[in-house]
Amino acid sequence: IIACFQPNLLVGKSVMITAGPTFEPIDPVRGITNLSSGKMGYAIARAAREAGADVTLISGPTALATPYGVQRINVQTAEQMHDVVMSRVTSQDVFIAVAAVADWRVKNVSTQKLKKGTDGKAPELEFEQNTDILAAVAALEKHPYCVGFAAESENLQEYGEAKRKKKNIPLLVGNIGHQTFGQDQNELVLFDEQGHTLLPLADKQKLARQLISEIASRL
Ligand code: CTP
Ligand code: CA
Repeated sequence: IIACFQPNLLVGKSVMITAGPTFEPIDPVRGITNLSSGKMGYAIARAAREAGADVTLISGPTALATPYGVQRINVQTAEQMHDVVMSRVTSQDVFIAVAAVADWRVKNVSTQKLKKGTDGKAPELEFEQNTDILAAVAALEKHPYCVGFAAESENLQEYGEAKRKKKNIPLLVGNIGHQTFGQDQNELVLFDEQGHTLLPLADKQKLARQLISEIASRL
């Protein structure tokens, strides 16, 4: 059954969404980020609000306007995103992790701008792993309905189902990776306990509405 979008699907529900990339500093003027534009997460925030939900968007740096009626909190690093999410998520009905969160942060961040020096040597960066925000939310005793995203470059079928189980979440949305970053269209595969469903190539806003309908029908 294909769930159908209605303007009252999420009335009375609160939905928290993470979106965009994170930015992990190297020094005061440099950092590491990724190609996520935030478009899919913002489209989902808009669709959730259109469906009547109270929407909080925790966003990494993007060039996008805040969707109408959505409360937006800006963050830069994965650690900041984690802290903001954890401080507010227990009161939420739904948590949708769309952000492309950096898996690692720089351990030896320099407080001063790194200089080239004269020896021709490159700086040595050390990394440490960031906390998995989605897995942390799913592990809370009182947790919202959790939805994850996965951008895979290959083996979507196999990796998607494996990732859903590993994170212990009821719904994981897969897309074939980086080709869709920054694009206005996407193609999604929903993985749940029942199996998988394809949402064929369409506008990200249309897909966002379909996804919100699918989520509402599972609450
Ligand atoms: N995610 C998160 N916090 C992290 C890393 C990922 O909340 N520190 C969330 C993403 O927002 C997404 C889901 O976890 O909803 C899957 O992210 P992904 O990068 O595909 O999975 P990883 O578990 O990080 O595995 P890998 O990158 O090795 O494929
Ligand atoms: Ca990752």
